[in-house]
Amino acid sequence: MNNPIGIFDSGVGGLTVLKELRKKLPNEKFIYLGDTARVPYGNKSKDTIIRYSIENTKFLLKFDIKLLVVACNSSTATSLKSLKENFEIAIVGVIEPGAKKAVSITKNKRVGIIGTEATIKSKAYEEEIKALDSTISIFAKACPLFVHIVEEGLLKGPIADDIISHYLSTFKDKGIDTLVLGCTHYPLLKSSINKFFEGKINIVDSAKETADTVSALLKKLYISSDNKKPIEPDYYVTDAAERFLKVGKTILGKHLDKVTLVKVGQ
Ligand code: DGL
Repeated sequence: MNNPIGIFDSGVGGLTVLKELRKKLPNEKFIYLGDTARVPYGNKSKDTIIRYSIENTKFLLKFDIKLLVVACNSSTATSLKSLKENFEIAIVGVIEPGAKKAVSITKNKRVGIIGTEATIKSKAYEEEIKALDSTISIFAKACPLFVHIVEEGLLKGPIADDIISHYLSTFKDKGIDTLVLGCTHYPLLKSSINKFFEGKINIVDSAKETADTVSALLKKLYISSDNKKPIEPDYYVTDAAERFLKVGKTILGKHLDKVTLVKVGQ
């Protein structure tokens, strides 16, 4: 089935998820929506994020998408249930795949979760992990500054190291052996975070796990594309296209040709 796959995020960060999806599924057509007019979602209330997520979904449904990926952890954490109740289409969020991976690799059953305030407050990762293994101890922390340093391109160096140490030192005392990167932006800090923990813990990248889940679901539902060649995604944003292009280059490591400005929710 050659209909596109819709993917939305609060802004540019979801490109980390798109990047993994394209690595895994190069011949699928993706339509990406970044809600740059209303970013960040991570410090907003649950009701507001649900409203935004529903509006983003309605926008993407206009493209006759066959599957929806909610790339934003804050949206997945607060809104996935409402989206699944409101829309019939297959929907994949980023939390369940990351949680499953953490459960499968922790040895000492001590897992850390980091994300935005909305994601951490929702306890969505805890619920998923506890449902799979109730004996796992979970330590969660919001790291709001990570989004900003990533968008500034400060992925390595003294500023990144200081901020990582500020937020993550507590996990060293807790003796975790696995840390889940529960935010779109955090995979870009993976190597600095790995350095902070001296390579001694497992780092779970939800973006990567989500791509595997989407790939498996397409097969299960018999809706994989039969395109024989890679296809470029279409990009839509709700504001500040220039900034999206600039930060998008940091995330994807390549220049994006075209992004279209749209209004959603009106
Ligand atoms: N995309 C958001 C997330 O993964 C991070 C940026 C924001 O706060 O909107 O939670």
